[in-house]
Amino acid sequence: MNRLITIISLFLGVIMISCNSPRRSKISSPDQDVKVKLSLENGAPYYQIYYKNKMVVGKSRLGLQFKNLSGLDEEMIAVSCDTVMHREVWNPVWGQASKIKNNYNEVAWTLRNDARQEMKIYFRVFDEGVAFRYVIPQTNMVDSILVSNELTQFNIKGNPDSWSIPADYDSYEKLYRHKRLSQIKDANTPITMKREDGIYLSIHEANLTNYAGMTVVNDGGNNLLEANLVPWPDGVKVRLKDSLVSPWRTIQIASHAGDLITSGMILNLNEPSKIKNTDWIQPIKYVGVWWGMHIGTEVWVEGDRHGATTENSKRYIDFAKKHGFNGFLPEGWNKGWDKWGQQGAFDQVTPARDFDLEEVTRYAKENGVGFIGHHETGGDIITYEKNLEAAMKLLHDHGAVGVKTGYAGGIYPRGQHHHGQYMVNHYRRVVKMAAKYNLMVDAHEPIKATGISRTWPNMMTREGVRGQEWNAWSTGNPPSHYATLPFTRMLGGPIDYTPGIFDILIKNTKDQRKRWNCDDISMTRAHTTLAKQLANYVVLFSPWQMVADLPENMEGNPALAFVEDVPTTWDETLVPVANIGEEVVVVRRSGENWFVGGLTNEKARDCSFSLNFLEGSKKYQVTIYRDSKETNYETSPEKIAIETKEVTTHDVLNIHMTNGGGFALKIVPIN
Ligand code: NOJ
Ligand code: CA
Repeated sequence: MNRLITIISLFLGVIMISCNSPRRSKISSPDQDVKVKLSLENGAPYYQIYYKNKMVVGKSRLGLQFKNLSGLDEEMIAVSCDTVMHREVWNPVWGQASKIKNNYNEVAWTLRNDARQEMKIYFRVFDEGVAFRYVIPQTNMVDSILVSNELTQFNIKGNPDSWSIPADYDSYEKLYRHKRLSQIKDANTPITMKREDGIYLSIHEANLTNYAGMTVVNDGGNNLLEANLVPWPDGVKVRLKDSLVSPWRTIQIASHAGDLITSGMILNLNEPSKIKNTDWIQPIKYVGVWWGMHIGTEVWVEGDRHGATTENSKRYIDFAKKHGFNGFLPEGWNKGWDKWGQQGAFDQVTPARDFDLEEVTRYAKENGVGFIGHHETGGDIITYEKNLEAAMKLLHDHGAVGVKTGYAGGIYPRGQHHHGQYMVNHYRRVVKMAAKYNLMVDAHEPIKATGISRTWPNMMTREGVRGQEWNAWSTGNPPSHYATLPFTRMLGGPIDYTPGIFDILIKNTKDQRKRWNCDDISMTRAHTTLAKQLANYVVLFSPWQMVADLPENMEGNPALAFVEDVPTTWDETLVPVANIGEEVVVVRRSGENWFVGGLTNEKARDCSFSLNFLEGSKKYQVTIYRDSKETNYETSPEKIAIETKEVTTHDVLNIHMTNGGGFALKIVPIN
């Protein structure tokens, strides 16, 4: 992996013939397919978007309202309009591709109110969509800026199909709705749409920094989506000192759903890495004391059924070493789990009585397995912020490679929301503090992914999804969930879904399970076949991937070879089959090797795709992990067929996927 970010080419040119006039202007993408029109009416700013000459976003309002600053929403005058052309290719520290194209045309639109206060609205038009942001340069008019409302609208033309989760100020762990847009009242982003003419749109945000998270509302169901920012307890949306730089509001546009996935637009809208030496940032496959607690065979709390004991940790480290997995996470290593929910319960620095931090970290190091710390907060930010530096330092001093953080529960201070500005800033402080101690971060119950891993490449992965854990103690995640995530949640960035459940029906441990959560655990299972669990390693991108099941459930299973072999970061990504909520095939290259993941929803299907991505001059060996004739989603989802054969670029593979099934391929050149 290229660990240094190098800008291969950077061309910044000012187009002399800029906007037509400051009051009205047009700007196009480099390939001319995407066009944005800006206009000022009665001093209020508006935009419209066209794709291949079709209006995809109709006239939509722009602007902000403030508690303590007036006249920046209407009756403004346009002062200037300047354009910039940007052409760049950059190399991320890790990613879905080793080169990312960042080509756009930008317009900076400067508006001014009566009191000569300026607001700039920047538009960037890419071949893959449009982004815009608000900037209020230094103001001397008030002591602090209090945003009361963001006026941004997305006036979606027609009544497209849409995939989204409901708006929620505290959780993204929801099932996706596939509905006509007019039936959606509100949504968290990304919200993805397919128009009747086959054009795809996805609304999200990029570079969510020192601002509140954005949800969208569709009041009245007329598809005039409006931004609704997550508030502070007093109703203010965003509080700033003396200037404002909003996140980018993004509208990805594509003719093929797969192009939404391969677009670098969200990352591009973030700043280059602030970490100079990134040698310590690495892809990870990690095992952990984790699934046992979720299925109810072990507990987080120290005592009789405690999972994270020194002995059990060593067992996991041995398993990791044997199979070449380079990370180990012991959840429940520390004190506080018996006081969950109380303020001050967790201190993130005191090990449980039966967990010897010195010994476990020594053992991990001796065996070449990276130690991953766990900072559960239970939502108690007041305590975590007090402990933050000591807790990161403790991990660093014990040679840890990273930390998983957790925020399940209501936030202390009460009244704050997981997705409001207070928490956005907290999550960022944690990433920066981790960087100071050379630690990578995997955040659970996080703020949404908006591409900040370009700037902070130690922000490896996050949950913010209804992940595997839900299969352990609830009705779980239906098969269609996996065919929807790549086109929705994953557009923001990596997902720590925690794949790799081999005992699909959770039957091996039936006798040891104790109910600890809402649903009837005897009904719980992973809603996939084993082949689809493998497919998830390729389909659901994450530079850290968990190998989630208990070692005893995986040991000796020949399918484990795929998990051993599959990389977690990539040089190239292609999406030959992209049918949102139905089926998806993702093809990824690492060096000369190719890995493919394919999966289906509740329907069995035959999946056919060409291997034309392979080099013409070479022969390859493909190892296929697929649903077999004996695989039955209900009774024997763990059955898998594994076969190898020789292939070339001229081959087309036809693979049967059973209902809830999938396949995974490893393709290596034959020398
Ligand atoms: C929820 C997280 O998503 C899960 O991974 C973790 O095990 C529990 N909280 C406990 O921290
Ligand atoms: Ca969670």
